[in-house]
Amino acid sequence: MEKPGISVLGIGYVGLCTAVGFASRGYKVIASTHDAEKADKINKGVPPFHEPGLQELLAETIGAGRLKCLVNQTEAAVVETDFTFNAVGTPSKTNGRIDLQFIESSAHDIGKALGEKSTYHVVVVKSTVVPGTTQVLVGPILERESRKRCGLDFGLCMSPEFLRQGSAFEDTINTDRIIIGEHDRKSGDALENLYKGFYGSSGPPIIRTTPSTAELIKYASNSMLATKISFINTIANICEKIPNADVRTVATAMGLDKRIGPLFLNAGLGYGGSCFPKDVKAFLAYSRSLGYPFKLLESVESLNKTQPLKAVQFCRELVGNLKGKNVAILGLAFKPDTDDMREARAVPIINQLLREGAKVTAYDPVAIPIAKTIFKNRIRYAPSATACLRKADCCIIVTEWGEFKKLKPEDFIENMKRSILVDGRRIYDPQEFGRKLKFAAVGLGSETQ
Ligand SMILES: NC(=O)c1ccc[n+]([C@@H]2O[C@H](COP(=O)([O-])OP(=O)(O)OC[C@H]3O[C@@H](n4cnc5c(N)ncnc54)[C@H](O)[C@@H]3O)[C@@H](O)[C@H]2O)c1
Repeated sequence: MEKPGISVLGIGYVGLCTAVGFASRGYKVIASTHDAEKADKINKGVPPFHEPGLQELLAETIGAGRLKCLVNQTEAAVVETDFTFNAVGTPSKTNGRIDLQFIESSAHDIGKALGEKSTYHVVVVKSTVVPGTTQVLVGPILERESRKRCGLDFGLCMSPEFLRQGSAFEDTINTDRIIIGEHDRKSGDALENLYKGFYGSSGPPIIRTTPSTAELIKYASNSMLATKISFINTIANICEKIPNADVRTVATAMGLDKRIGPLFLNAGLGYGGSCFPKDVKAFLAYSRSLGYPFKLLESVESLNKTQPLKAVQFCRELVGNLKGKNVAILGLAFKPDTDDMREARAVPIINQLLREGAKVTAYDPVAIPIAKTIFKNRIRYAPSATACLRKADCCIIVTEWGEFKKLKPEDFIENMKRSILVDGRRIYDPQEFGRKLKFAAVGLGSETQ
């Protein structure tokens, strides 16, 4: 039987991984975006962002003619396919609320295309949207534009995405669970069959529910993960006030409790990226709009704002006045294996260092081109980690890239003016590094530093 055709709107991390995922398993996929430059790169088999494992499969699927990316041709993409995955961006407004303008405008385009179709088509909202968006906003727009009835003439589902940047493609094809928030049973059956065809008989568990519950599952999941991070960071900050305490040991022991689990308990400089900060903000604004402010999450967000500045505080404590001092920043991306700098912890850290008069030199394996668009010539950029350390008074580890983990105390001692190291991500052994360098790390009690 011929596989159904798939269209994907929005070709960021979620859209492109979804598109390449389906295309790599033999589905015909048409992506559509507003961004001609991005589309051009994709059609040449070049991912527009750094994501391990994506390059080869993108090149292969484009080469085999199973994937193409159109510019501003949403209607054509929808008309020629059977399922449309909407993965457009849902950024924050200045008041923290979710900005649904791209969801809205793409729903108009999809609706117009549905009006031209004579066959059944399922629209799947993949973007992260607040509860009610699929049913109250997207569905009615689709009905108005198509002059057809949702649930009868076309289908509608909400199916949130849980991929992690840095392993986005791997997560897309090996997801832990699939959530299908269905407008009606026929829509849900159609999407479940598509997923079963894609993942095979031993695929991940599938949970079928209402669109609003599916939307809430995504916010609840990201809020829980953000809470774990701010929780362990709070424990880390407490550890620093207790002689000889170490948050790493606390986290390891906590993680062995099956009810808690070991993941997302790495104390550090807080969470960044395109999802957690914006999803936490949106969920806070949404809960306030319900008249039930999410107090716990307010604390999670508030701690995350101050946590990165601890790196500067450590630096000041070890170096003294930072005016005119050379500070080496290792890591700019919000996490390893990505070049994404949205809400990266490096941004508030570097801005604060500059405000205090420090001279900043930074190195990141892949994020320097993006960092240059943010900091321009206010900082210097080094071609390698050791070049970054040269003549520095202090070094701050901001992102836990694998290549930084391989550095030895001697690499710091031999290259720096003063051997002062702030381990913002707990990648080094405090015993070894603390013996040879002036060393501070998040969550390390005073006597051990
Ligand atoms: N990045 C992640 O790790 C991740 C994980 C899970 C869920 N999400 C959610 O998925 C959604 C997309 O995230 P992303 O990181 O892939 O976004 P992104 O910002 O990288 O890309 C979104 C793309 O949508 C495009 N776009 C906007 N309006 C469009 C339209 N009408 N038609 C076609 N393209 C349009 C934009 O040009 C942009 O390229 C968001 O809601 C996000 O919260 C992201």
